[in-house]
Amino acid sequence: MDLLLLEKTLLALFFAAVVAIVISTLRGKRFKLPPGPLPIPVFGNWLEVGDDLNHRNLTELAKKFGQIFLLRMGQRNLVVVSSPELAKDVLHTQGVEFGSRTRNVVFDIFTGEGQDMVFTVYGEHWRKMRRIMTVPFFTNKVVQQYRFGWEYEAAQVVEDVRKNPDAATKGIVLRKRLQLMMYNNMYRIMFDRRFESEDDPLFNKLKALNGERSRLAQSFEYNYGDFIPILRPFLRGYLKICKEVKERRLQLFKDYFVEERKKLASTKSMSNESLKCAIDHILDAQQKGEINEDNVLYSLKISTLLQLRSTLWSIEWGIAELVNHPEIQKKLHHELDTILGPGNQITEPDTQKLPYLQAVIKETLRLRMAIPLLVPHMNLNDAKLGGYDIPAESKILVNAWWLANNPANWKNPEEFRPERFLEEESKVEANGNDYKYLPFGVGRRSCPGIILALPILGITIGRLVQNFELLPPPGQSRIDTSEKGGQFSLHILKHSTIVAKPRSF
Ligand code: HEM
Repeated sequence: MDLLLLEKTLLALFFAAVVAIVISTLRGKRFKLPPGPLPIPVFGNWLEVGDDLNHRNLTELAKKFGQIFLLRMGQRNLVVVSSPELAKDVLHTQGVEFGSRTRNVVFDIFTGEGQDMVFTVYGEHWRKMRRIMTVPFFTNKVVQQYRFGWEYEAAQVVEDVRKNPDAATKGIVLRKRLQLMMYNNMYRIMFDRRFESEDDPLFNKLKALNGERSRLAQSFEYNYGDFIPILRPFLRGYLKICKEVKERRLQLFKDYFVEERKKLASTKSMSNESLKCAIDHILDAQQKGEINEDNVLYSLKISTLLQLRSTLWSIEWGIAELVNHPEIQKKLHHELDTILGPGNQITEPDTQKLPYLQAVIKETLRLRMAIPLLVPHMNLNDAKLGGYDIPAESKILVNAWWLANNPANWKNPEEFRPERFLEEESKVEANGNDYKYLPFGVGRRSCPGIILALPILGITIGRLVQNFELLPPPGQSRIDTSEKGGQFSLHILKHSTIVAKPRSF
């Protein structure tokens, strides 16, 4: 280790401790802060609560400290909100005050310091990006333009699974094929492109880089440098790898997608609006001078990754729950066969006619929420919440998973029971019409992708259940549904092997 660096760091730590004590004494007088464990200088509560601030650990802390509590993670304030009333205050009533995003050292790199739309502060840039991204991504017209493509991709999955001799006997890792399908669903919208098979070299290059990017961004490994800025020099190696991965991804996007599309646009007339895909609309905005090239690239990069993955995780969770609940799967078979007619393949408009399928999807998003703490919010200025003072630039987490799994709000929430959405919770929708159920958030920074995600989930889960009986592998009575959480993600720990027995009609 670099001794000089270590010496300097220890000295800096000592001064930081003194400054922190002075500041916290002064601040304690000025602010009425939310309750929470007692912080120690420099480290705050970090050593006590650890790195893994997942939805379950934060739920335990909420039981101890209440519906709003504060953690000092080194130099950063983290406020956690765990009641529908406070969620409404953060996301709706004070949606402007709490409508910005925090980033950390690693997200700063991957988003070019918030050049995209997901991780930028609430303001002019966000408004512009949201407007530019809405036409190519987030309207019903987009759904109607691409739904045939999504239906085709789901049909290809069914065909490939049927052709695979292992599928009906020892089982396959279905997720691998679903990942290709989700890439194709999104790349069709963005670039009017698809990948033919899991062996496609470009698909594999993208998958590897995206996987590495996700691992680096979602890991808790870099927290120390993020929480305690003077320790940042020790993160140099980590951040260097992040920068390299980012550059390689940007270059790949530029070379294989953006430049190619620009060339195509210069040779073909792109005046026909219906032939335009997302990149054409975004490049138009660049040509008009509304955004720059970096904005274009960062927006595309983020759109492909976070959103594609959260939809894929939700499909994977839904399938896992259906494998582990054969009686629910049987009910779904029955609904699909009776309403659509045996063997009639589900299409996007059909998804509206299938209440039990809708309930299965809602229940999956409730119990296995892909983004259980929403994407972190932030207040740019000092604010008030629940009668407490919230210092400027606090990171605000809404524990949406706990809102949707708290026995005070739900009957037997630990059970996977879609019927609840047809019975006692029949009025609750995924769009945030009830603050105890916010799988896509609600308000200004809510997920605009809900309009795409719900039909894709319906078509994919519908087609798989229509065509197969989904079972655990031989010798197992259920598949493992242990969870893995990241900075703000929740997915299944093991991509399980699943037996898919073709159904005969
Ligand atoms: C099942 C799939 C999905 C789930 C569960 C999900 C959930 C979420 C959640 C919880 C947020 C944060 C809300 C907040 O912080 O208040 C979010 C933000 C966002 N989502 Fe999704 N999402 C999904 C799919 C998609 C798709 C397919 C797209 C686009 C193609 C998309 C685009 C976005 C964008 C752009 C934001 C940031 C909005 C902003 O900051 O203004 N999402 N999503």
